[in-house]
Amino acid sequence: MTLRIGPVTLAHPVLSAPIAGFTDRIFRDIVRDFGGCGLIYTEMVSAGGWVQGNIPPDRLNRVDDEARPLGVQLWDREEAPLEEAARRLVDLGITVIDLNFGCPKKRIMGTHAAGATLLRDPATVGRLVAATRRGAGSVPVTAKIRLGPTVHARTGPAVARAAADNGAAAITVHGRTAGDGYGVPCNREMIAEVVQTVPVPVIANGDVHDAASAVETLRLTGAAGVMVARGCLTRPWVFREIAAALAGEPVPESPSYLDQRALLLRHHAEMVEREGERFGTVAMRKFAVRYLTGIPGARVFRDHVTRTETTAQFREVVERFFPLEGHTTTEITEVAEETCAPL
Ligand SMILES: Cc1cc2nc3c(=O)[nH]c(=O)nc-3n(C[C@H](O)[C@H](O)[C@H](O)COP(=O)(O)O)c2cc1C
Repeated sequence: MTLRIGPVTLAHPVLSAPIAGFTDRIFRDIVRDFGGCGLIYTEMVSAGGWVQGNIPPDRLNRVDDEARPLGVQLWDREEAPLEEAARRLVDLGITVIDLNFGCPKKRIMGTHAAGATLLRDPATVGRLVAATRRGAGSVPVTAKIRLGPTVHARTGPAVARAAADNGAAAITVHGRTAGDGYGVPCNREMIAEVVQTVPVPVIANGDVHDAASAVETLRLTGAAGVMVARGCLTRPWVFREIAAALAGEPVPESPSYLDQRALLLRHHAEMVEREGERFGTVAMRKFAVRYLTGIPGARVFRDHVTRTETTAQFREVVERFFPLEGHTTTEITEVAEETCAPL
């Protein structure tokens, strides 16, 4: 199974989603190191903020010396800043430029009338894609959408068509509306409808967290690839599992708990190197909590790690509460809960 985005052929039809607050350079390097990811995106970047402020945003820190392929996601509701930001991304050697038409955050939808608000207006989506393409030259432009603004306005297929008609090289569809919370199941039938509507590759997104859910999503939607967001915050090695399954190869083992513990310490050390000890440790808390989701003893670990402020405290929590190999789930939970003295 091959996924082509315009002139770019991905090594694997598995993409790492833009995740604001998470997919920074340190996390992207971790994902790359595990392998299996065909394309990794930055966090979303405000085109207007960049163009008016003239300084590359923090979210583009160190993209110049990063491995490729690399996708950057832009958001805006005006043509001129998108065109100019795209031109600058071409100069930075970015592989794919994605446009955000799915963000449901109040600040983006309300104050800026961008993100998922634009799902109400396929014609504007088309104009924004066309403007971005003017700046992007031969670099492919993609659109990331939802099924619509609400369940009563499932505009996804119309928006996807407007984007494709104006030159989008692929469309990613998150199978929920902007009004849906994560409690609402991802609607794969509606993603399939978008697949039927546009002539360009569609990437299915939503609730893909392992090889089985990826295979099932592709089967039910007919999409050309899958994109993973929350699943990779817990298991950044998920891409190699999905890539192997799609290639008909045996799915590799998860890293041992000891390796996962080493990963936590590596990630923390890199955050501290970038941000300093206190800010780095505080910024690491949200990653640490995500890494542990669903792992035995996670609750106890979370309670402690979210109070750490120094490297010594962070390491102590990891040493004390990160589950060890060779224990059963119940044992680990019991041991962790018994030893849960406040730090
Ligand atoms: C913390 C967080 C930040 C996100 N930031 C972005 C973003 O910057 N751009 C975007 O298009 N989607 C963003 N998303 C949405 C995801 O990319 C994805 O569409 C959604 O989580 C569904 O995929 P999943 O079920 O694999 O998590 C974000 C999601 C989360 C949980």
